[in-house]
Amino acid sequence: MKRNTIILCIATLIGITAVVESCVSTKVIGKSGTTLWSENCQRCHNTPPSSAFTNTQWEVINTHMRQRAILTEDEYKKITEFMQAGE
Ligand code: HEC
Repeated sequence: MKRNTIILCIATLIGITAVVESCVSTKVIGKSGTTLWSENCQRCHNTPPSSAFTNTQWEVINTHMRQRAILTEDEYKKITEFMQAGE
């Protein structure tokens, strides 16, 4: 009986972890560059229009801002693509 309870607890914990992880990843995967940009880049300052910088400059700026905004690789790519598309 006791052993079954322990096994049930472990199974439940694994189940909860899997559900939480899948929620987090679909949240990021589902977000567009526009959404990520508006959620992350205007916390500290207004952002200039994408036409203000060239594609290469956006890569450099976002490499730097990625550290400031604590972005993942995926978020960084999506935001940079969004800024570059406006050029
Ligand atoms: C935690 C605060 C913070 C976040 C979040 C942030 N920035 Fe910045 N940003 C700064 C600061 C501070 C500067 C001034 C330059 C420096 O000291 O790094 C700056 C400067 C800039 C500049 C001006 C560069 C120049 O040469 O004129 C641009 C463009 C910019 N950020 C874009 C972004 C974008 C795009 C994002 C989202 C990916 C972002 N920032 C997120 C703090 C932030």
